[in-house]
Amino acid sequence: MNQNDSPRPVTRGASFFPQCMSAIAALILGMACIGPSWAAGDVKLGSKVFSAECSECHTMKEGKNKKGPSIYGLVGRKAATLSDYDYSGAIKSSGIVWTEEKLDAYITAPAKVVPGGKMKYEGLSNPKARQDLLAYLIFFSQ
Ligand code: HEC
Repeated sequence: MNQNDSPRPVTRGASFFPQCMSAIAALILGMACIGPSWAAGDVKLGSKVFSAECSECHTMKEGKNKKGPSIYGLVGRKAATLSDYDYSGAIKSSGIVWTEEKLDAYITAPAKVVPGGKMKYEGLSNPKARQDLLAYLIFFSQ
């Protein structure tokens, strides 16, 4: 009997391996081949982006607001829902739920996503910095 006639899991496993390696290589090169994946950002670098760009007005501590509301546990939350923060009417009536896509858009250009809102921040144009920041925000939402 010829052994090659029967498919063996070991052979299938071996053919999966190179695909897996190229996916890892692509991630290392920063070219996410599995579609836009914010979770692929670097949480550590994201914490630096947060310190530089957001910490003047936000904390990642639950219940601790500054000029802006606490953004702990943000991903998946409806916009403007903290009871101890005085939001603008614009963001209260926006109907936004903070998905990763919405956050990415808001961080890119707050005034475009919430016109008339009171977040006085010009936006973060660097996509890599946003990806890392998103990974950090996701980390604090789990
Ligand atoms: C100069 C101050 C300031 C900076 C800098 C700033 N924000 Fe804000 N942010 C605010 C204010 C004020 C609000 C409330 C907006 C409103 O009521 O319209 C807000 C609201 C938000 C909200 C909505 C929260 C909710 O509960 O719905 C998110 C998300 C957010 N900011 C993320 C960020 C991120 C991420 C950064 C850094 C890239 C950042 N902000 C930088 C002041 C700031």
